[in-house]
Amino acid sequence: MGTHLYSVTLSIALLICDVPIQAVQEQYGNYVTLFENLFYRAAESFGTKSTKIDLKITPFNVMEQQYPASIDDFSSYVMTGSKYSAYENIEWINKLKDFVRQLDQHPTARLFGVCFGHQIIAEALGGKVEKNPKGWEVGWSDLDINDEGRKALVTEKMKLRLHQMHQDHVTEVPANFTVLASSDICPVHLMVKGNRILAVQGHPEFHAGVATAIVNARKESGVFTADFADNVLQQLCEPTDDLWFAEKAIGFLSSRPARD
Ligand SMILES: *[C@@H]1O[C@H](CO)[C@@H](O)[C@H](O)[C@H]1NC(C)=O
Repeated sequence: MGTHLYSVTLSIALLICDVPIQAVQEQYGNYVTLFENLFYRAAESFGTKSTKIDLKITPFNVMEQQYPASIDDFSSYVMTGSKYSAYENIEWINKLKDFVRQLDQHPTARLFGVCFGHQIIAEALGGKVEKNPKGWEVGWSDLDINDEGRKALVTEKMKLRLHQMHQDHVTEVPANFTVLASSDICPVHLMVKGNRILAVQGHPEFHAGVATAIVNARKESGVFTADFADNVLQQLCEPTDDLWFAEKAIGFLSSRPARD
């Protein structure tokens, strides 16, 4: 890498909303490891094209109601996925929604929500999340990026291929959010509020290995039929845009839009 005239510090509080299943933990680690692996790779790639990012990630177990002492302690917040539903009336989930409302009111803090994190943002800020009657979206999906999406992501791309693992989805978009990408089964895949809150239904921190472990476990437990699971497993060897998208998320969180 060349010498950078400038570098910025991106200090992220990672709000941990679940523990991955045992097979994922054993082979690929917990959510801290998954997000560190993704974000450090994305920041490095980002740094070769744009400003060098000094990334620092500090985990907080919000299931045990652990939070930073002050929102000002971090410039950015990232919320992970979870097996829980964003509409469940559970103390730590209600507290997390309160915290999201505080972040929304804060003058500068940035927030990026992933899957359950995306759904918590919707529920906390006046939108709605429901179980999708069209069923699960699993494996990767090719999302349609709309005009607003191409503007926000600084790209000409029409499609965005991200890993998916969800049945719940956002059915009402909160006020002042703009939808950026959709799929046939799920209209609200990516949404943004100004330059402060970004929320994605997919799982950019997954990769074929993580997805394979989860699909196999859900095939064994009967959540997925064998036919459904085998179809997904065949699809998983194809490349995705997860790293590309993570660079865009890093750009969003550091206020330095990532070029393609
Ligand atoms: C949406 O934006 C308008 C105009 O900036 C503002 O007046 C309103 O309070 C916002 N609503 C929410 C829920 O943020």
